[in-house]
Amino acid sequence: MLVKYINFIRGVAISRIGLIGVVLTTSSFVTFVLLEAARLLGLLTNTYVGLITYMVFPALFILGLVLIPIGWRRRKKATGLTTRQLLERKFADPDVRAGFFGSRVFLTIGVFTVINILFMMGASSRMLMFMDTPIFCGTACHSVMNPEWVTYRDSPHARVRCVDCHVGEGVEALVDSKLNGLWQIISVTFDLLERPIPTPVRQLRPARETCEKCHWPEKFYGQRLKTLVRYGRDETSTPWYTTLGLKINAGPGTEGGGIHWHVAAANEVRYASVDDKREQMLWVEVRQSDSSFKRYNNRRLTGIETDHDLIRTLDCIDCHNRATHIYEAPDHAIDDRLARGRLPRTLPYGKERALRALTGGYTDSAAAMDGIANSVSEYYRRNYPDRVDAADDDITSMIRTLKAVYNRNIHHGMKITWNCYRSQIGHVGDGGCFRCHNAYLVDAAGNSISADCTLCHSILAYEADKPFEYILPPDTTDPEYRMHHYLQREFFESVGQ
Ligand code: HEC
Ligand code: HEC
Ligand code: HEC
Ligand code: HEC
Ligand code: HEC
Repeated sequence: MLVKYINFIRGVAISRIGLIGVVLTTSSFVTFVLLEAARLLGLLTNTYVGLITYMVFPALFILGLVLIPIGWRRRKKATGLTTRQLLERKFADPDVRAGFFGSRVFLTIGVFTVINILFMMGASSRMLMFMDTPIFCGTACHSVMNPEWVTYRDSPHARVRCVDCHVGEGVEALVDSKLNGLWQIISVTFDLLERPIPTPVRQLRPARETCEKCHWPEKFYGQRLKTLVRYGRDETSTPWYTTLGLKINAGPGTEGGGIHWHVAAANEVRYASVDDKREQMLWVEVRQSDSSFKRYNNRRLTGIETDHDLIRTLDCIDCHNRATHIYEAPDHAIDDRLARGRLPRTLPYGKERALRALTGGYTDSAAAMDGIANSVSEYYRRNYPDRVDAADDDITSMIRTLKAVYNRNIHHGMKITWNCYRSQIGHVGDGGCFRCHNAYLVDAAGNSISADCTLCHSILAYEADKPFEYILPPDTTDPEYRMHHYLQREFFESVGQ
């Protein structure tokens, strides 16, 4: 059998090109099968190998198949012989003689063709499956997707596939995404891509088809306590605490409405924004299942026509736009590393120096790496010459952590610098929740959407030196006694005490 196969291959690989074709096809077939078997048996788990298995070997296989007829044709031209004459030269007489189903050679070619087609069908379905894996989305166009890949792997959704949020379910979503992918390949190849990649992502499926497959609004209830630790820029980097009881209720069935009231089944909030950034609202409407209706118009933006493309039903992504690709602000990133012990608290002016080193306005990553190291070590050498030796480990660890923070958040190739992709989950300035919860969006009677400080969260500490300051009994002599008392009562009442 093997001898027959080798003879057949020899016959088909009639010229050097043909031979290369046969070698390519056979070796990539065998390697693919071996790698795939190893993967199915669980011997191979490295996903990077997948990139080669599903992208490179099938391509080499097809290239090989194409080379074989090219080699054959060249040979025909060079020798001036017909296909039949060439076949007769290469194969023994009984193989070429026409039988009931055609000659044996043609039968063998037929069998191989069927095997090839089956193999290509199998490989391409595996390839399509592989194209849905995060490793493919995140690394196939490395230079372009690296920022998303880096932030994704460091996020609560690191185990959720990109396609679960970006593609959704159904044939239409699949076709859309593949067409879109094709356009992406073209734009990467010809460098037509905008840098940084603009958001909001217009093609994103409605959250009902993506986020709500795993999270559903009815599930949210009660409060989520969150303590934000911030460090001062003083000598000891003194920590202070803000603790919020975030009211994440969805509404019906729970006490009062809460943050997820917007996405509860009974409610629909629609808005029209001035432009694609979705930051300035022209109007906001609320429809509820009891058929009540309210409309708030922006009294600062009158006389602007509503563009129908810019009307949207508020969903998860309007608030959780950074559910996964979470870029940190430099001072918050430092606070986070200090809180988790990744940055030493022992160095004098640690927070201050870290912030300066991190935000040095570097032009590329190499300059940043040098700049960060120099900035930190020079400062301590110059100002604390007698302590610098003992603190050597801390200084080294500070530099290492800051470099990692920089590489995680800043991506020069894609022009991603500090605060490039802003999160809408809080209320920095007039952004986030305050896009709607402000004094300018008013209904016919002139009422605005509430921006009461305890509408969305109880406040258990506000830039205080204790994380749960307002839960402690208030001190009647304290000038903040009344606020303390008020916030404490508000919290206990909102959790039903
Ligand atoms: C948990 C859901 C989720 C997962 C998982 C996810 N993304 Fe995203 N992605 C989003 C959301 C939400 C946005 C922002 C949408 C908006 O503002 O319109 C986004 C935006 C993007 C953008 C635009 C740039 C930006 O940061 O706004 C790119 C590119 C992207 N994602 C690629 C990926 C890749 C590649 C993966 C997998 C490695 C991935 N995403 C995984 C939800 C997700
Ligand atoms: C395939 C399932 C899946 C999908 C789809 C998904 N998530 Fe999640 N999400 C999770 C899991 C699991 C966690 C919990 C991770 C943990 O606690 O470590 C999570 C956590 C979260 C958190 C809490 C993060 C935190 O800081 O604790 C938010 C917010 C969130 N998801 C929002 C979204 C949004 C918005 C989308 C749609 C763009 C989405 N998720 C899509 C599975 C999913
Ligand atoms: C697109 C506009 C819009 C954005 C953005 C928005 N809201 Fe709202 N929100 C509304 C409207 C409209 C209401 C209902 C006002 C009314 O009572 O008529 C509302 C009501 C609420 C309520 C009260 C629900 C109830 O019991 O009636 C809470 C809590 C709330 N929002 C929290 C938030 C938080 C937190 C954010 C930011 C993460 C946010 N909202 C962002 C439009 C918005
Ligand atoms: C109006 C703004 C807004 C909308 C719309 C919204 N969320 Fe949230 N969500 C928040 C805020 C604010 C928090 C609390 C912030 C935090 O935990 O950092 C939160 C918290 C969460 C959490 C963490 C809950 C926990 O128990 O810790 C998940 C999961 C989540 N949201 C998923 C979703 C999903 C899925 C949708 C769409 C169905 C959605 N959210 C719609 C504002 C919103
Ligand atoms: C419409 C809802 C809403 C209203 C109204 C609101 N907040 Fe907030 N606030 C939030 C959300 C959401 C966050 C972000 C929580 C997080 O980081 O997950 C936040 C964060 C904060 C923080 C922490 C900021 C930080 O990152 O250090 C403080 C302090 C705060 N709010 C105080 C206030 C005060 C004071 C008021 C009244 C003027 C107010 N909030 C009104 C929703 C609201």
